[in-house]
Amino acid sequence: MDRIRIRGGKPLSGTIPIGGAKNAALPLMIAALLTDETLTLRHVPVLADITTLQHLLVQHGCTITLTGAESAHEHGHALQLNARRIVSTTAPYDLVRRMRASVLVLGPLLARCGEARVSLPGGCAIGTRPVDLHVKGLERLGAKIDLRGGYIEASAPQGLKGAEINFTTVSVGATENLMMAATLADGQTTLVNAAREPEIVDLAVCLNAMGAKIEGAGNDRITITGVKKLHGAEHTVVPDRIETGTYIMAAAITGGELDLVGARYDLVSAVAVGLQSAGVAVTETAKGIHVRRSNGRLNGIDVMTEPFPGFPTDLQAQMMALMSTADGAAMITETIFENRFMHVPELCRMGANINVHGSSAMVRGVAHLNGAEVMATDLRASVSLVLAGLAAEGETIINRVYHLDRGYERVEEKLAACGAEIERLTDD
Ligand code: EPZ
Repeated sequence: MDRIRIRGGKPLSGTIPIGGAKNAALPLMIAALLTDETLTLRHVPVLADITTLQHLLVQHGCTITLTGAESAHEHGHALQLNARRIVSTTAPYDLVRRMRASVLVLGPLLARCGEARVSLPGGCAIGTRPVDLHVKGLERLGAKIDLRGGYIEASAPQGLKGAEINFTTVSVGATENLMMAATLADGQTTLVNAAREPEIVDLAVCLNAMGAKIEGAGNDRITITGVKKLHGAEHTVVPDRIETGTYIMAAAITGGELDLVGARYDLVSAVAVGLQSAGVAVTETAKGIHVRRSNGRLNGIDVMTEPFPGFPTDLQAQMMALMSTADGAAMITETIFENRFMHVPELCRMGANINVHGSSAMVRGVAHLNGAEVMATDLRASVSLVLAGLAAEGETIINRVYHLDRGYERVEEKLAACGAEIERLTDD
C-alpha cells in the first residue's frame, strides 16, 4: 500500500491549480442515467471515487468515453456518458459499499425505468449516515419501497408523481437524489429545507441544460416541474471548494503564500472570513484566490461546522491541524457527523494538544508539531495529517494513502511544485 513521506518545515510558495469538485462530479455523472442522449462533463477530477462510479454506471449500461487533460495546466478530464439503454437497475453491494454516493442512482433509475434495487450503503468511518430521507422522499413521490436483504427495492410502474417533500434534516445527498428523480415526475415537486451547497446548484444547472425545469437551487426551497424526457448537454464541473480550502490551510500552516488558480472565492467565503480573523490573508484575484500568512503565528479561532454557507464539515479536520499550531485555544464543534474526530489521536501523536468533549474539540496551540508515522481513516482526516506533516519538524509518514486518492488529485505533485518536500512511497 502506498505511503506518503513528508519532511516538514518549508513554507509553501507558488501556484496550485484547483480541480473540478468531486462531490459535484459524482451526482453529475449519475444524472446521465436520466437520458438516452450523451452528457458531456468537463473538468472532471481524476480520482479513485470517479473511477468507482464509472464501474457502477457501466454495469447499469452506460458507455463512458474519456478524453485527457484539457490543457497542459489543467488537470482533470472530460467524460462523455451515454445511457441509451439501461441494462440493469440493480446497484450491487460490492460497488455501493465502496462509495456511499452510489446511492444517488436510486432516484434517476426509478424515475427513468420505474424500478431500482440499490444496496444500502451501511455506516462508514465518519458516522452511521442513514439514507432514510432519500427513501421517505421517494415514497412521497409515489414509489413503493421495501428494504429487503440489505437492498432498497423501489418501484413506481406508473411513474413518479410530484409532491411536497419536507426534509427534517438538511441533506446534500437526499436533495440531489430527489431533485434528479423529480425532473421526470408527473407534475410539480417542492423540496423544503433543501441543502444549499454549490454542488446542488451545479447539478441543477446541468439538469436544466438537459431540459429539466428546476427553480430555486441554492435556496432552501427548490421547485421542480417534471418533464417527459431529458436530453443530452455539455457541462463544466464547478471548482472544488474543499480542495481550495485545504490548500488555503496548507499555505497558512506553513507560513507560506499560494495562488489557487481556478478557485472561486464565493464558494469558500465562510472559511476565508474565519481565517482572516486568525491572521491569514485570503483575497480574490482575477484567476482565483491568493492566500498568504507571513506575519508570525496564527490566532486560535472557534469554528462550528454547518451546512452551506456555513463552515464545511469537509474542512473540519484540516482546520484542526491548522489550529494545533496557532496561538491560544480554538474550540472546533462538529454538528454534521457524529464520529468525525478520528484524526484527533493521530494529530496528538504529532504533538498536538486536543481534547474531545462530545461533539467539540478543544485545541490548544503548541509551539511546533513533530513528524511521526500516522494513519488515517477517511479522506479529510488523511489530508489533515498531510497539512500537519508539512508544518511539523522532521519526517512524517502517512499510511493508507488510498483515502487521499479518493478526493485529492495529484496532491503530492501539487504540493511539491510549491516547495514541499513530499513524496509517495510505493510498495512493490
Ligand atoms: C455529502 O455527503 C458529501 N458527499 C460529504 O463529503 C459531506 O461531508 C456531506 O455531504 C456534508 O456536507 C458527497 O457529496 C458525495 P448529507 P452526504 O446527506 O450527502 C444525515 C467528503 O469528505 N442524514 O448532507 O452523504 C447524515 O447522517 C464527503 O467528500 C440522515 O440522517 O451527506 C448527516 O448527519 C464525506 N438521513 C447529515 O444528514 C439521510 O437520509 C448530512 O448528511 C441522509 C443524511
